[in-house]
Amino acid sequence: MEAVNSTVNTFLAKHNKEKRALIAILQDIQAEYNYLPRQALQLVSRCLDIPLIDVVGVATFYRAFSLTPRGEHVATVCLGTACHVRGGPKILNEFEKKLNIKAGETTKDNRFTLETVACLGCCAIGPVVVVDGNYYSHTTIGKVNSIIKTYAKKRVKK
Ligand code: FES
Repeated sequence: MEAVNSTVNTFLAKHNKEKRALIAILQDIQAEYNYLPRQALQLVSRCLDIPLIDVVGVATFYRAFSLTPRGEHVATVCLGTACHVRGGPKILNEFEKKLNIKAGETTKDNRFTLETVACLGCCAIGPVVVVDGNYYSHTTIGKVNSIIKTYAKKRVKK
């Protein structure tokens, strides 16, 4: 509890507690915890004098932010029309089987969160999977295991 407050206070100070730095502060918090703890949002609201509902509004508007804990690595499988017809659902199914979670969930060891998206805007290279911002094109079921292995070894540096 105290630790969260002191970390968030550091981020607030870094941005001179300026209201216009709200998104940058939320980005710092997201990077630190992989999500936005409620306690952190309350502190930001108080210190910047922005109503909590507005802070939460910004936090829920951007996909980059999460209000629930996320794993160290976020795997996103595109299920937009173009990726769907090229096998997106099978890719998702393979991720779900290998990680033993459903889309929207996080593994018990907090290593992976699995998400889906409607379209990433690069339909020609589908089916597309994105892990921690790295794009994998023309993904096949056979590639899923090696993608997971790559990130299972990687620890996120804080
Ligand atoms: S449908 Fe997957 S990138 Fe557009």
